[in-house]
Amino acid sequence: MYVCICNALKDRQLEAAASDARSVGEVFRRCEARPQCGKCLPDVAQMIEAARVQSPARLMAAE
Ligand code: FES
Repeated sequence: MYVCICNALKDRQLEAAASDARSVGEVFRRCEARPQCGKCLPDVAQMIEAARVQSPARLMAAE
């Protein structure tokens, strides 16, 4: 499913890029894209947060 219409980025592509990203901008850079209208930014931010929750070991390693 397309999440970012402006850049034709699909959910799986964005989720993979969000796996250890620290910002929405980092996710877009990994996808070699730039946010345009901004409508997808909350969804991308939610993907980053979901990835954080799913990777508690990563948080422990960062401490
Ligand atoms: S839908 Fe992603 S920037 Fe417009």
